[in-house]
Amino acid sequence: MADGKKVLVTGGAGFIGSHMVDRLLELDYKVVVMDDLSTGKIKNLDSAAVFHHTDITQPAMGDIIQKEQPDLVFHMAAQTSVTQSTKDPIGDANSNVLGTLRLLEASRRVGVEKIIYSCTGGALYGDPDNIPVADDAPLAPVAPYGMSKWVAEQYLNFYYRLYRLRYTSLRYGNVFGPRQDPHGEAGVVAIFSQAMLEGKQPSIFGDGAQERDFISVFDVIDANLAAIDRGDGKAMNIASGEATSVNRIFELLQRITGYKWDPLHAPQRSGEVYRIALDSSRAAQEIGWSPRVSLEEGLRMTVDYFKESMGPTGRVPSVS
Ligand SMILES: NC(=O)c1ccc[n+]([C@@H]2O[C@H](COP(=O)([O-])OP(=O)(O)OC[C@H]3O[C@@H](n4cnc5c(N)ncnc54)[C@H](O)[C@@H]3O)[C@@H](O)[C@H]2O)c1
Repeated sequence: MADGKKVLVTGGAGFIGSHMVDRLLELDYKVVVMDDLSTGKIKNLDSAAVFHHTDITQPAMGDIIQKEQPDLVFHMAAQTSVTQSTKDPIGDANSNVLGTLRLLEASRRVGVEKIIYSCTGGALYGDPDNIPVADDAPLAPVAPYGMSKWVAEQYLNFYYRLYRLRYTSLRYGNVFGPRQDPHGEAGVVAIFSQAMLEGKQPSIFGDGAQERDFISVFDVIDANLAAIDRGDGKAMNIASGEATSVNRIFELLQRITGYKWDPLHAPQRSGEVYRIALDSSRAAQEIGWSPRVSLEEGLRMTVDYFKESMGPTGRVPSVS
């Protein structure tokens, strides 16, 4: 229930953040967005949300929180590229750790009720021996991105213990769905969907046998909403529990789009996990969440979105 509450979505112009904004508006929340548009796009944003073009690593973000006085925060702004985090670990930590710390400081000052944090499950546990990985499995990130997301989660826990600033950390699998950026280093589903629809040959990094846990963005939004009133002080996986190879995603998307050619193969990227799936038992128990969108259904919705986005040139536009 919105109850006239004001909600801040950091990173609200991004892929997951913009879906969060849409659902919150549908539920009658007052929505404020902070985004520096480094990867987010203004065209993703519903104009009913109040937008602040701000970098969360800058002191001005504290002034905005002071002015807006949000009741709840969905913290989704982050440097999200594993490759970029390896090239520039300082920049990655600046966004993901120091940006989160600034948010925490500002939030406790204005008495924010709760922060729901978008963490990673896919990049947190390394290459585990057993899958699906339990919520309490040892953490062993293999790239700075996983480390910075983990450290930020630890700061949330610290503020909870010291100031009783409530939080829940949601550790997502590989999120996919409409609006995911198919340009650059985005999720494989968006990249393959766009390439196949444009009749271009997609590249698979490595042999394609690497497995990921794919979860629909709509399931992820449900988990965020479920965490508003439950799961305080807890971190939990938000994922399908199934390991799906990149080759399998390719085949399923071939079937859905009617694409007939084989993929190209490119060298494997460093810092990437080879095989992962995440057990979401804690989310089921703590916030009553379990995934509802099947992989095929989610893939179809994604392909439909890219089809609709294609202009008369037959290309998905890349600019904001
Ligand atoms: N997509 C996934 O598979 C996935 C998996 C696990 C966790 N996550 C987490 O979910 C969140 C959202 O990811 P996404 O996939 O929507 O990525 P995204 O890149 O589309 O969204 C991130 C948003 O944050 C903004 N941003 C980045 N740095 C900022 C800064 N310093 N100040 C203000 N805004 C900034 C970007 O402009 C963008 O709009 C991130 O925290 C990410 O770590 C995503």
